[in-house]
Amino acid sequence: GEGVVRRDRFSGGPARGFMSSLAADERIFAADLAVDRAHVVMLAERGIVEEATAGEILAALDEVETEGHAALPDGEDVHEAIETAVIERIGPDGGKMHTARSRNDEVATCIRYRLREDLFEAIEATLALRKSLVEAAEEEVETVMPGYTHLQPAQPTTVAHYLLSYEAAFARDTARLLDAYDRTNRSPLGAAAFAGTPFDIDRERTADLLGFDGVLRNSMDASSARDFLLESASALATHATALSGLAEDLVLFSNKGFVELSDDYSSTSSIMPQKVNPDTLELVRAVAGDAASGLSGLLTTLKGLPRAYNRDLQRATPHAWETVDIVSEATAVAAGAVSSAEWPAETLETAAGEGFSTATGVADALAMAGLPFRTAHEVVAAAAERADGTPDLATLDASAEDVLDASLFEYVSRSDVEQALDPVASVESRDSAGGPAPAAVAAQLEEASAD
Ligand code: ARG
Repeated sequence: GEGVVRRDRFSGGPARGFMSSLAADERIFAADLAVDRAHVVMLAERGIVEEATAGEILAALDEVETEGHAALPDGEDVHEAIETAVIERIGPDGGKMHTARSRNDEVATCIRYRLREDLFEAIEATLALRKSLVEAAEEEVETVMPGYTHLQPAQPTTVAHYLLSYEAAFARDTARLLDAYDRTNRSPLGAAAFAGTPFDIDRERTADLLGFDGVLRNSMDASSARDFLLESASALATHATALSGLAEDLVLFSNKGFVELSDDYSSTSSIMPQKVNPDTLELVRAVAGDAASGLSGLLTTLKGLPRAYNRDLQRATPHAWETVDIVSEATAVAAGAVSSAEWPAETLETAAGEGFSTATGVADALAMAGLPFRTAHEVVAAAAERADGTPDLATLDASAEDVLDASLFEYVSRSDVEQALDPVASVESRDSAGGPAPAAVAAQLEEASAD
């Protein structure tokens, strides 16, 4: 029709499809509309675009929004396609929307605008997971279980102490994501291609309209910087790595009957009728691989990029989306698995007494009676070697005779040794700050709930 300009800026030849990010840009469709609106409002306020034209552009953007991303004309990317759609509606004046900016600052702004939302979701997922750990821990303060080092029974602990160990790690993940959010939340808009603009724009105003905390000072940095993607992906990969440890533990524990995962988080075998497998948590465990790959995709794409904008940056963005999506999902799934899991107290307590996991406690009892810890360690190690499993009092005493030339009971009472050999008493005795004794765990629970 009249006034409609048909442009074919996006030629691209045979590489047309290869060059276009339009499909992937669906993710920033809403962000681009927000950025366009803020920019146009600022241009009108500064008298750079007439108010009537700005009004027409804003109305056209509303229509574009209603019709959706799928209805956009073909283009190199969503920015170009939306501009084309606006021009199709209101004529060449629609092109005034792109005054005093470039797609370089535009896309950087869109990514930051959208990522804020996604980081929020990821942060909320870590909070929900931590809540599920705290709530499960509250129920299991007295539930004694074996603690492991090198996959071998090491010392008895409690389920609450174990669960809160992950809550503590995930609390740092939340903090890292919040840090990434803070640096993501800065506006590059107005940097234009990289070299600013002669128009009398107000960068603070668009930053404000878009809810950013401020602007990125240097325009060359603003249009090129993607370290906010690296930082976000790194925080997510760090979280996914900790999460994979929790998932691995739960897989191992469910294998031993130490934890009962809800059927909602288990699956059956298509051939072996007796099987109930912890597939959900195996997938959670695997997500650390996705996140590491997203982070490494970003690192390798961004490495060595010269100033200023280079089209490589278009291929960096999807790594961030994929990483944030899968890690948030895995975090939410893990929270559900934790909330619905049961911890069979009797099985756990029996297991906690196996493999002489109370050995350290016996050595501690001897050391508390005045023996140098190294000597106490020697006595108990000799007994461990003699006994098959947990040594009885006679075996411990025989080892003391060997090592010390004296009876064990010259140092400690029988009842002290019996206490030390009991996994429940052993846990109760380890009440140092941060330790597994119910009193020490109560303090940790209080702090974790307050966070
Ligand atoms: N779609 C591009 C991206 O995601 C933005 C376009 C900038 N293009 C350009 N040729 N300067 O980075």
